[in-house]
Amino acid sequence: MAATLLLLTLLTATTGGFGSPVKPVPKELFEIIVDWAPLVWLHPEEVFFPSSVDFHFENVEVRTENETVVQTSPDRWSVVTGPDTRSMHLNSVPDLDCADCLLDWFAGQNVSEVTVPTYVFIKDYQDACGTVDVVYRSFYPYNFGKDVCVGVPIGDVCEGYMQSFGNHVGDWEHFSIRIRDRKVVECYVSVHSFGAWYTWNDTANNFQFTHGEDSRIDVVDVTYPATVEVVEGLHAEVFSANGSHGLWSAAGTHEYVHFPIHLKDQADRGYAWRSWDSLEIVEYDSDVVYEGELHYLGYRGRWGNQKRGCEVEPVSGECILGVLARSWLLASGTRGLP
Ligand SMILES: *[C@@H]1O[C@H](CO)[C@@H](O)[C@H](O)[C@H]1NC(C)=O
Ligand SMILES: *[C@@H]1O[C@H](CO)[C@@H](O)[C@H](O)[C@H]1NC(C)=O
Ligand SMILES: *[C@@H]1O[C@H](CO)[C@@H](O)[C@H](O)[C@H]1NC(C)=O
Ligand SMILES: *[C@@H]1O[C@H](CO)[C@@H](O)[C@H](O)[C@H]1NC(C)=O
Repeated sequence: MAATLLLLTLLTATTGGFGSPVKPVPKELFEIIVDWAPLVWLHPEEVFFPSSVDFHFENVEVRTENETVVQTSPDRWSVVTGPDTRSMHLNSVPDLDCADCLLDWFAGQNVSEVTVPTYVFIKDYQDACGTVDVVYRSFYPYNFGKDVCVGVPIGDVCEGYMQSFGNHVGDWEHFSIRIRDRKVVECYVSVHSFGAWYTWNDTANNFQFTHGEDSRIDVVDVTYPATVEVVEGLHAEVFSANGSHGLWSAAGTHEYVHFPIHLKDQADRGYAWRSWDSLEIVEYDSDVVYEGELHYLGYRGRWGNQKRGCEVEPVSGECILGVLARSWLLASGTRGLP
């Protein structure tokens, strides 16, 4: 395991501006995090790869809601931070000429050629059961939505035109594990705005489905795979859906909206992304003002362009270019798993 492990917690962070460094992750917990880091399969036809946050910062500027530029060339050490950044967003440079226009860097970093980091956030509950949640977050510069027939679908033919909806710039995905008394007991596989819980089974040596969330757009329940298998040791095998990057624990077609439109994810073993080759681990505390390499954690805004193309709403109510929920980091600080 000649892994490039970036232990960012060893770098300086200050509480309220005074120099109390963040405590390093205990060795035992560190080993669990590495041993159980997921193996993420990208689809063989994937063209929108993940990237580091640094890669993304190189291609964006910070803007307000009214598109006033507040910072050009932000990076993890200098990006604007604090409560005022809540209403801001990172906007592509150059701006997009149309809601479904693409830029070269939306392709991200090919995991077969570049070591792309996974951002790990730890939450220690400090309770009697020794509960610790570990969230493995991956970043993608672009999420390709779904092609939908605008007009009348007649059988398999679209009388009208096909349009992609639900695209967005800046896409965070995550997979989580829960540790109790130094043992991994549960995991959560996040799909889009929903996901499923699985419990570790020592006999079967896999995680088994316990319950899942509805898709929130559809009344029909999502069918989740029955298990999460572990490979190459204890690494959960998860599949990042082609284009949309929602995670599933099995290859194949996963339909998560059945009516009035059909939305499906395609998952398959294309590119193996071994997340444990590069983990940036942070014991995240929303009250801490991070400095240095972790300074960017104080940015509270959105990670991509504002929504556009909402006037041609299809039945799903989505825009051509949408936005990712803003407070992905705040959420991890206030809620437990996921
Ligand atoms: C995967 O996504 C690419 C790019 O959006 C698309 O061209 C390709 O047809 C998709 N493949 C499948 C199997 O959905
Ligand atoms: C845009 O926002 C900035 C900062 O929030 C503000 O100073 C400026 O007056 C606004 N401009 C317009 C045209 O609303
Ligand atoms: C990703 O890199 C591999 C290895 O170099 C290459 O075979 C593959 O074509 C690349 N994929 C894309 C979409 O560029
Ligand atoms: C663990 O898995 C085995 C084999 O699938 C099954 O028979 C058993 O009931 C499971 N145990 C629990 C507690 O679910």
